[in-house]
Amino acid sequence: MDQHATDLLTDWSALRSGVPPAWARYTDLIVERASGSWLTTTDGERYLDYTCGIGVTNTGHAHPRVVAAIAEQAAKGIHLQQNIVYHQPGLELHRRLPERFPNAKADTAYGLFLSNSGAEAIEAAVKLAKVVTRRPAVIAFRGGFHGRTHGAMALTSSNVKYRAHFEPLMGGVHFVPFPYPLRMGGADAALATTMDAIDELFATLVSPDDVATFLIEPILGEGGYVVPPDGFLPALREVADRHGILLAVDEVQSGYARTGRFFATSWTEATPDIVIMAKGIASGLPLSGILAPRALLDQLGPGSHGGTYGGNAVACAAALATLDVIDDEGLVDRAQRLGERMLASLRERAGHHTAVAEVRGRGMMLAIEFADPGSLAPRPDLAKRMLAETMANNLLLLTCGIHGQAVRIIPPLVTTDDEVDLALGIIGDALEAVAS
Ligand SMILES: Cc1ncc(COP(=O)(O)O)c(C=O)c1O
Repeated sequence: MDQHATDLLTDWSALRSGVPPAWARYTDLIVERASGSWLTTTDGERYLDYTCGIGVTNTGHAHPRVVAAIAEQAAKGIHLQQNIVYHQPGLELHRRLPERFPNAKADTAYGLFLSNSGAEAIEAAVKLAKVVTRRPAVIAFRGGFHGRTHGAMALTSSNVKYRAHFEPLMGGVHFVPFPYPLRMGGADAALATTMDAIDELFATLVSPDDVATFLIEPILGEGGYVVPPDGFLPALREVADRHGILLAVDEVQSGYARTGRFFATSWTEATPDIVIMAKGIASGLPLSGILAPRALLDQLGPGSHGGTYGGNAVACAAALATLDVIDDEGLVDRAQRLGERMLASLRERAGHHTAVAEVRGRGMMLAIEFADPGSLAPRPDLAKRMLAETMANNLLLLTCGIHGQAVRIIPPLVTTDDEVDLALGIIGDALEAVAS
């Protein structure tokens, strides 16, 4: 190796420019190792990671049981391709995950289809809905984020950057407003706005018997961590049943114990037809999937969907260990308990700041939205400054909201009570600096 190459390898900062700008970037940190709730950079600096790699590391970074399961399976076989052979972790996961179907019906057998990323699972869900119903249209919700593949981006409306210059997009997609209590005059008015918009859509733009599925995030993720009114999913279920439309819930960000339920859909009594999962499913290895009744899932004929890596053996082993950790460490209850504590504390700390329009969330899926008092004009500048303040104090957070006007707080579900106190202190100080 020549001297230039050697210098470059020891100067990690210089190598950063090799990563293309398509990767929009929150920080320039170069991480050497990650463990539990903490990242350690090549400079030896430690950061409390309340981003969870965008809601992925629910069991914390490098949980020892997940690491052990990965190492054990990697030594036995990494790529045991799904079209060619079966492997043990895959078979086990196909047995265990359908048992988690939210609000499952006792007389229904559920199944699992595995892929690699959230977007890919969205594609599977939409393809399944089209095959089952033989209908062309999908109804998605404004502010939703479903991924960046060609189909998924056509369903995404959380920011124009995901769509700009990529037209033509997949056809047959219709949008209605997501019920956003803060910005629609409260929960009842928000629910009415959305349900009226669906009625109007059916009366003016698309016949309900052309609609294959509703695609909905039970809690809006990228679009602002917006918790819809309690009656929303059941109301959608009722409309779907009336017209033979399927209900697909995108639990990519809200699932896997994050909100204090295994799936956020279970905060309601609605039974979906398709559940879309990714992120937390394998604690960081690329894995995603959909759950659906076998009577629907089995209508995707052999070869009609799939991919070389779908259901990778090492990722499945990580997914099994992830389920064990969630169960054995009681992470569903822990998310609810710590989440309630954080929400109450954040509300108290934010109470006197007029630029804080709302502190909201469920479980450990929390957000602080900034807006001008009265007009509710979004204040992304304050959200951005807040991130800079917390980062200066070694706490990493993200923004969300269609204008980037909210700060989202996504702690690992294994975070300790002391870490929560530390984070709340840093957030409180940042609010004083930014919003007073
Ligand atoms: C709700 C939701 N759906 C789908 C996706 C897409 O997942 P991926 O980035 O793995 O393709 C995301 C990613 O953030 C998401 O939050």
